[in-house]
Amino acid sequence: MNMLILGGNGFIGSHLVDRLLAEDHRVRVFDKYEEHYRKPVAGVEYCVGDFGNRGMLSEALTGIDIVFHLISTTLPKTSNDDPVFDVQSNVIETIFLLEQCVTNKIRKVVFISSGGAIYGNPLSLPISENCPTEPECSYGITKLAVEKYMALFNHLHGLDYVVLRPSNPYGGRQNPDGIQGAISVFLGRIAQGKSLEIWGDGQVVRDYIFIDDLIDGMYKAVSVNALSRVFNLGSGIGHSLNEILDVIRRVTGKEIKVVHKAKRSFDIPSIYLDICRAKQELSWAPSVSLETGIEKTWKFVKKLYR
Ligand SMILES: NC(=O)c1ccc[n+]([C@@H]2O[C@H](COP(=O)([O-])OP(=O)(O)OC[C@H]3O[C@@H](n4cnc5c(N)ncnc54)[C@H](O)[C@@H]3O)[C@@H](O)[C@H]2O)c1
Repeated sequence: MNMLILGGNGFIGSHLVDRLLAEDHRVRVFDKYEEHYRKPVAGVEYCVGDFGNRGMLSEALTGIDIVFHLISTTLPKTSNDDPVFDVQSNVIETIFLLEQCVTNKIRKVVFISSGGAIYGNPLSLPISENCPTEPECSYGITKLAVEKYMALFNHLHGLDYVVLRPSNPYGGRQNPDGIQGAISVFLGRIAQGKSLEIWGDGQVVRDYIFIDDLIDGMYKAVSVNALSRVFNLGSGIGHSLNEILDVIRRVTGKEIKVVHKAKRSFDIPSIYLDICRAKQELSWAPSVSLETGIEKTWKFVKKLYR
């Protein structure tokens, strides 16, 4: 099939490119930038442009069967700085995308939402797709708004869609110098002999999913005809930052210097996802252990700083 990946040159998108090519699909990528860690991949058609460039976006949809929407112009941490920009660049432009998908008779749109930002502070754990959504940042609100518009376009125009809510993915080609992705950032600092900064006492619990497992879930979500349209994709297990550091110590064999900073008020103390629905309906389950995932990520990071 003909696949379009919006944001296909980023961390998750680049791995999705590999999987779709391996499954013999034709792949077109629409992204503002080139891939950061690789040269252009043979067999991929690249469209370099901004999501807000409506002419280019419409052209990119020509002849496409399935659209994966992975573009986000903001991050959870920064989205509150300019909510107007967040809504305009993510919600408004996605509504335009959905209109174009209807016009172009796209078979299915896959939207990458967020399992970490959409629920807010959970009332119970693990958190399932049916739990209340009370996002505590603009990023979570715009992700939720897009989810609702996808449902509306399905209702009004029959546009088929699936929403995926990943937890905290990690793995090769995640930017270790970035401001999200604790495992990659920690490994990057360790590779450079730098100390790690942790806000609070390291007891904050998150759900970490290795990139190959996430990609497998994303692929199953388009290959399987499921009853549901919204799926959590995570490991289903919560790990504190201190537990992550223990695994990192074992894997890297390095002494790790940790600087504890004041706890941040906006950090949700604990969140991990209920993944029963994806297991049942998509016949999917994560298979990479934290230890193995961190080993693979460490290999990538070590090479970067060699
Ligand atoms: N990485 C995570 O922790 C995580 C967790 C949950 C959900 N998500 C979501 O998954 C998606 C992909 O995340 P990622 O980690 O691969 O991010 P990423 O930043 O590595 O990739 C995003 C890609 O989108 C492109 N992009 C951004 N703004 C654009 C614009 N205006 N026009 C064209 N291209 C643009 C970037 O150039 C980049 O290549 C995002 O929607 C993100 O919100 C990520």
